[in-house]
Amino acid sequence: MRRLPLLTTLDRLENAAWLDPAVDELRKIVNAVVRSRSLRDVLHGVPLGHPVHPLAVQLPLGAWISAGVLDTIPGTERAARILVGLGIAGALPAAAAGYTDWAELHEQQQRVGIVHSSGNLVATSLFVASFIQRGRGRQGSGKALGFAGLAVAGVAGYLGGHLSYRQASGANHAEDIPHRVQPGWQPLDRLENLSEGRLDQRMLGEIPLLVFRRGDEVSVLSDVCSHLSGPLHEGEITEQGDPCVVCPWHGSVFSLRSGDVVHGPATAPQPSFETRVRDGLVEINLPGAG
Ligand code: FES
Repeated sequence: MRRLPLLTTLDRLENAAWLDPAVDELRKIVNAVVRSRSLRDVLHGVPLGHPVHPLAVQLPLGAWISAGVLDTIPGTERAARILVGLGIAGALPAAAAGYTDWAELHEQQQRVGIVHSSGNLVATSLFVASFIQRGRGRQGSGKALGFAGLAVAGVAGYLGGHLSYRQASGANHAEDIPHRVQPGWQPLDRLENLSEGRLDQRMLGEIPLLVFRRGDEVSVLSDVCSHLSGPLHEGEITEQGDPCVVCPWHGSVFSLRSGDVVHGPATAPQPSFETRVRDGLVEINLPGAG
């Protein structure tokens, strides 16, 4: 099947380095505005276990599409205006979540993302103008502006789909690990070969593992960060109740004991192996593997 010409444009957009100065400026603004780590965690979706942004866009898009349907039915002007206003109110948290995620992406994703967000900004502005015109009793121009907003939001949504599914931003990059690991206990290394209190890497076949030993206790996680595949063994150790690892790429923090996300941008936990020591040999088992 032939590809849509738009897809070729999007592939070029990923490599449009001329967007980088704007990306850098916007990222500085986002980081300056959303400073609190707890707020960032909420906006990333750490408590939910996946990004908030796709959920948050349901309100503005649902309201605006519904307003568009009502605009084809005579006598529903008031309800349509309420829906347009509801969509505008819902756009703010959706944008806050989206920009917070965007600020922690790879550069190719940020180039597509800045165009996606600009499109949504234009769409929201058109709906604001539509809301004002409807309030003035100018239903014709209010409806026209609303339909224009829907068209722009549709293009921006296509870019969002590209960002999510083709560029895998927001996806769990450690999801494949349990499918690639054999079930059951497997040898890792002798306990005395593991460095004390340091992050280490070992391979289980082709799968890189993060290994941390403290005394006789050994923690083993997938080494590939669930956020965007950063190498966790190159990160830092921090204490947050449990010993934790800080990803070197965007600073996600995971418990070394459980793999749970302590701080985002990651929202999915690291696959965490059970460990045991038999006759000095460390063995590992990934629950749910195979
Ligand atoms: S790759 Fe982004 S936090 Fe690890």
